[in-house]
Amino acid sequence: MIKEDINFKEAGRFEETRFEKIHNVIFDSSKEASLLVAQEIANLIQRKEELNEPCVLGLATGSSPIKVYEELVRMHKEEGLSFKNVVTFNLDEYYPMDKDNIQSYFYFMHEHLFNHVDIKAENINIPDGKVSAEELRQYCIDYDMKINSYGGLDFQLLGIGRTGHIGFNEPGSHVNSATRSITLDHITRVDAAPAFLGVDNVPRKAITMGIGTVKNAKRIVLLAWGISKADIVKETIEGEISSQVPATYLQEHNNTTFVLDTEASSELTRVKTPWLVKSCLWTDELKLKAVVWLSGLTNKPILKLTDKDYNDNGMSGLLAEEGTAYHLNIKMFNTLQHTITGWPGGKPNADDTYRPERSEPAKKRIIIFSPHPDDDVISMGGTFDRLVEQGHEVHIAYQTSGNIAVSNDEALKFAEVSTVLNSASTESDSIIDFLKNKSKNDIDSVAVRKLKGLIRRSESLGATRYMGVPDENVHFLDLPFYETGTVKKGNLTDADIDIMCNLIDKVKPHQIYAAGDLADPHGTHKVCLDSLFEALKRLKSNSYMDDCWVWLYRGAWHEWETYEIEMAVPMSPDQVLKKRYAIFYHQSQKDGVMFQGDDSREFWVRAEDRNRATAKKYNDLGLAEYAAIEAFKRYHF
Ligand code: F6R
Repeated sequence: MIKEDINFKEAGRFEETRFEKIHNVIFDSSKEASLLVAQEIANLIQRKEELNEPCVLGLATGSSPIKVYEELVRMHKEEGLSFKNVVTFNLDEYYPMDKDNIQSYFYFMHEHLFNHVDIKAENINIPDGKVSAEELRQYCIDYDMKINSYGGLDFQLLGIGRTGHIGFNEPGSHVNSATRSITLDHITRVDAAPAFLGVDNVPRKAITMGIGTVKNAKRIVLLAWGISKADIVKETIEGEISSQVPATYLQEHNNTTFVLDTEASSELTRVKTPWLVKSCLWTDELKLKAVVWLSGLTNKPILKLTDKDYNDNGMSGLLAEEGTAYHLNIKMFNTLQHTITGWPGGKPNADDTYRPERSEPAKKRIIIFSPHPDDDVISMGGTFDRLVEQGHEVHIAYQTSGNIAVSNDEALKFAEVSTVLNSASTESDSIIDFLKNKSKNDIDSVAVRKLKGLIRRSESLGATRYMGVPDENVHFLDLPFYETGTVKKGNLTDADIDIMCNLIDKVKPHQIYAAGDLADPHGTHKVCLDSLFEALKRLKSNSYMDDCWVWLYRGAWHEWETYEIEMAVPMSPDQVLKKRYAIFYHQSQKDGVMFQGDDSREFWVRAEDRNRATAKKYNDLGLAEYAAIEAFKRYHF
């Protein structure tokens, strides 16, 4: 069995529990995991080559396999891995879809893999999005027959959609389904919307290999990264087999491995509530996690939990370690109590033994990094306000221009105002001309991007002035990785890191705030965070960095779990309003934004709902009742 090829047990975290019906391995990072998967594929290709046999690979597209393909390309270029004996069958293609459309899976596969390796063109099979409706049925039958003519797939690489689809086998698909055309689920189209610049542009149909075709593969590896996959991964691995979650059919396949990163695994029972399935090593973090969970389960504030509550819910081991519920409850209650502070920059002249921040220096230099030009106020507007009010030197650094999220109509409005004010401007004339003639898939011209970026700059300055920050402390970094004009961004380079390092080195901050949010739909927050981590690594040896503490907030999409929070900054009802008004300055992101995702609430509503929910969670645990709370976790570098 190929599974034994790669020692996933040693490489990742693998444990079988009674809840799990599919072999799965968890890795700290998707990169590390992707390298191992690529290695498994490379081994298979080489073994088949030695046997003088074709290696038949089923391939997937989407964000999940990108690093696997990157590594295969690297192995081809640097280690001589040859694809001469490789035959590939892709899972799916939108329908209808032209091959040269940049959204096509045909384009994707060539861009990420085929153009960079020595595979023979005639060995590449991707469902043809241009087959006529009359020929489609026969075309699909022939696709399966061709796979069978090679003796089936040796290896199938899969991603998983939030609907539980594999390939484009949406809920309702039959276990024996063959390659066919299918209507895409709304959630799938919403997930694809950013790439197509809006859900209305996403095709409604696709051609997909069937479940039956996939299940015939000799070996299957499914990749899932990120928090947005956590729920469906749990349902697939732990739930009952059901056509409503087609990926559950993989429970019946005897050589499947799910390769997960920490976030995608976070809802699995063995990860989320390990005390229910095994004896635990009780770290402080795990204790808090368990007690917060128990309080939610029993609907009781922490101080009312009893020995029986602990014993009935898999935590007798913890109780034995701690003595009694009484002692454990007080300890956990105090831990949470100590996270609350109205002094996020530290309280001057106060004993800071049990406070999240140091009291000294009383006036701190602070940089708030905001990936897009609005995350600062959306995610930490209340804390931002306190930091300014409490006299710290606050700098705001907008990491990207955010230009792709400004609509054409909004840009046209500004360009037209600009021509009226400045009749000699040929630049605004050309912008107006471009915008009026722009078709759906055109990438904005550099001038249009500049205008869109400027719109977001002025909105940001409106907000920072309202918050009381002098303009010279507002920094627009326009990190180059973002400036592709499309949703797909470039890779981080030294140019990005240098910009980050220069600012940090100039300000020499005592505190840095940054978005630790890894769940934004386009990945920009993650890249921005990586740029900070890399900058911190490079600057680490400077003595001022010894005094620099980093606090991570989460963006508009997701909040820290209560047990993860290390600083909770409460807000009064008036501060909630002030934060709302600051968010309103970002007019281009109001009243329906370009990249709405599947949450139709405006950003200010999301922010208020979330801050209110965090306050309620604290209150339900038995802590004081606040109107709203913003939450932070410290990052130790
Ligand atoms: C792609 C495919 C889909 C994706 C799934 C996850 O060929 O068949 O099933 O694997 O939608 O997409 P990402 O990886 O973008 O999250």
